Amino acid sequence: MPEIETSTVPVRLCASEALVERGDAVVFEVQQWRQKASAFVMRFEGRVVAYLNRCAHVPTEMDWQEGKFLDGDRELIICSIHGATYEPLSGRCVGGPCVGGRLTALRVEERDAQVYWYPSPDIKPAPVPELRDGDAAVIRNESPP
Ligand code: FES
Repeated sequence: MPEIETSTVPVRLCASEALVERGDAVVFEVQQWRQKASAFVMRFEGRVVAYLNRCAHVPTEMDWQEGKFLDGDRELIICSIHGATYEPLSGRCVGGPCVGGRLTALRVEERDAQVYWYPSPDIKPAPVPELRDGDAAVIRNESPP
């Protein structure tokens, strides 16, 4: 996997137990070059890997349902649009219309039973939406659980 220039301040994505071996991915919102995008993190062969949710063929999201990225055999990441397949550990396209291309990898790390993402200069956390006056009133009126 190529070296990725990243921030030193990690963002917690999820608990380790949320990522089951070859199971569903956790999808999260990011911002790439000030454009809204999504990314996903999953576990494969015990390792945690993360990629921008954008196919190398046509720049579109790949999951047919949120978090469903693997093919029927749970061996390859598959794009639901035209069927490009990618190696989960490298992100390299190994089948379909973009062979030789690759997914954009994000640097993630697992420690203390948590999964963290290190944003890069190009791919950052999505901005938190600003509250409008009405939203703030609704939040203030919520009763504690
Ligand atoms: S958009 Fe993914 S294979 Fe065409």
